[in-house]
This record gives sequence, C-alpha cells and structure tokens, in this order.
Amino acid sequence: MKRRVVKHAEASYGFDAAQRTRVQREGAEETPSRWWWKRCLLALVVVLILVPFSLSVFQGLIQHFVYTYRMRVPFFVDLSQPADFSLNHTINMYFTSEEGISLGVWHTVPESQWKEAQGKDLAWYQNTLSNGKPVFIYLHGNTGNRAATHRVGVVKVLSALGYHVLVPDYRGFGDSSGEPTEAGLTTDALYVYNWVKTHCGDSLVVFWGHSLGTGVSTNLAVKLLEQDVVLDGVILEGTFNSAARKMTEHCFTWYYWKFPGTGYFFPEPWAENEVVFPSEENLKKMKSPILFLHSEDDHLVPIRIVEKMYEVAMRYQNAERVKMVSFDGSLGYLHNGLYRDPHLPDILQKFVLSLQRGKGD
Ligand SMILES: *[C@@H]1O[C@H](CO)[C@@H](O)[C@H](O)[C@H]1NC(C)=O
Repeated sequence: MKRRVVKHAEASYGFDAAQRTRVQREGAEETPSRWWWKRCLLALVVVLILVPFSLSVFQGLIQHFVYTYRMRVPFFVDLSQPADFSLNHTINMYFTSEEGISLGVWHTVPESQWKEAQGKDLAWYQNTLSNGKPVFIYLHGNTGNRAATHRVGVVKVLSALGYHVLVPDYRGFGDSSGEPTEAGLTTDALYVYNWVKTHCGDSLVVFWGHSLGTGVSTNLAVKLLEQDVVLDGVILEGTFNSAARKMTEHCFTWYYWKFPGTGYFFPEPWAENEVVFPSEENLKKMKSPILFLHSEDDHLVPIRIVEKMYEVAMRYQNAERVKMVSFDGSLGYLHNGLYRDPHLPDILQKFVLSLQRGKGD
C-alpha cells in the first residue's frame, strides 16, 4: 500500500493549530477527516485503555522486562565452574545477603597469581584478598548472568592489571535465589561490599557498574554515605539517568522507545513497581571519585545523557575527581563492548593511581 506524508493546513479540518504532519494512504475512499478521526480514536483506545490496563495487570511482566533476569544468557552454563570461561584463577562461592537469599559470586585473583591459584580452596582466595592489590566489585547489567562474554571480558582486563575482581549475580539472576527488586539489588551489593571490606585489609575497593549496575552502584554509594562511608572510587559504564522525567517530555512515545530491544530504562510505570534508580539525584550527593565510560554509539543510552550526568557530577562535587572517557562511535562498541578497547587498561590504571594518590598511599 502506497503511503505519502502530507503536510496540510489544519484549518480545513476545523482545528486551530496551524500545521500537523500525518501519514495518508493514496486513493483512500473515506474523506480525510473521517479517516483521521477513526485512527485517532483507535490510537486513544490503545494508549489510554490497553496500555495502562496491561501495565497494571502484568506488573510481574514489567519487572521481567526491566531486569530480564530470567533470560539465562549464556544458556546451559555451569556457573560453579568459572574455569569453563577461561577464568582458571577464579573461585565460585555463595553469599547469603539476606535471610533466604543466596548469591552466586566469582572471585578472580590478579592474573599474575594464576599458577599459584590452581586447585586452591575458598580459604586461600579469602586470604589472598588482603594482599594489598586493589579490589573491584563488578555490578553487571540487566540480562543474563556473570558468565556473559562482555562481563568475563571486563574481569580479564582487570585481572591482567593485577586487581582482584568480585562479580556477584544479584538475587534472581544466574544461580542466585530470590526475585529482583531495586532495594534488593542494593542490599546484595552492600553485602558484597561489606564482605570485601572485612577481608581485604586496607586495599582500595572500587565499584564498576555497567548499565543497570550503575544504578545499583550510585544507590549503594548514597546508602553508604548515610553511614559516613565514602567509596574509594566508582566506574559507571553505559550509565543512564532515572528516566522518569523523560516520560513527561515524550509523553506518548515513551512506551515504544522504552520497550526492551529499543531501550529499557525505567519510566514511571516501573517506578510504581519500585524501580527508580535515581542516578542523577544520587550523583548530586556522591563524594567518591567517578569515572564515566561510554561508547558514542551506545544504542540503549545516548551519549548526551551521560554528558549531562557528567556535568551534574562535576557541578556537585570536586570536579577534579570526576572523569569521563567516551569511545568513538566508529569503534562499534555499542552498549557492552568497550572492554575490548586497547586503551582501556591504561585508562583504568591511571584512574586507580589517582585513587591511590587520593587515599595517600
Ligand atoms: C590460565 O589463565 C591464565 C590467565 O588468563 C593464562 O595465561 C593461562 O594460560 C591459563 N592456563 C591454563 C592452563 O589454561
């Protein structure tokens, strides 16, 4: 069916507005105004009745879309065997972050220790955590589990630099039990942090949040500030702001562009489901050094959102502690791939050095 876009004066249809753009079928028999009204009504039915109806009925489904945690990507993997993912200096363990909640966690030691690590048990790994090397806690995004390629990729980069890495699967993800909620995810991250702090001595502890994990990271940073704890450093990769305001700006388009596949960052319907992740508000309170990492071709979070958050962070705290590195769109990293960048180790090392200097080491 051939369609053409027609711009016409609304006056001929009895509207006050001067101009409107619409799509019209060639050779339609109906008069243009009847055609317009029918579609208008249909759109209203869909938007005003069906959408809120389905949103309220399928709250569980929404939660599912937000976290897509049930997607066990990669499929058919044994998370208790990190060596299957060529992480031969990694141990799998389980934390109880809250009564009845078991979290699957990997601890990878610095790559230089891979030989020494062969056949070692939990106690060895736990002792090694206090060897003075920086410890990273990686909070992953919203699909799949800790074995996803890009997550393993980040772990390898950090481990090669001589750092420890802990990668938990939040409640409901991977082989962890429970159902995800925003508060629950933050509790899980807090538990991992406290566990690390009790076992790592004076080592630097840095959070690396990716995507959804950036929301968890900033929530956690603010929560710890309430206990007068300032995180040593936070890396926010592929971060998003709370999209609640976006929705009023875009009103009717939010439903489409927020949907999984095109973008999945939590406008108001999800806020009813207690999913907010107010990262921008959190940034105004945070006191930790922050490094934003972002690909300019990120298809889920446009770079301008991160630029804005970077400015917010700069304005609200010591601007020297806030850094942003963006990767050229031509590199094709999209939302997940910047771990592949050959400059990344150097960037991370410089960030860690600045944190160590800040800490007075
Ligand atoms: C173990 O992992 C290290 C670091 O990734 C690698 O260099 C080494 O070749 C691996 N060893 C084996 C036996 O797979």
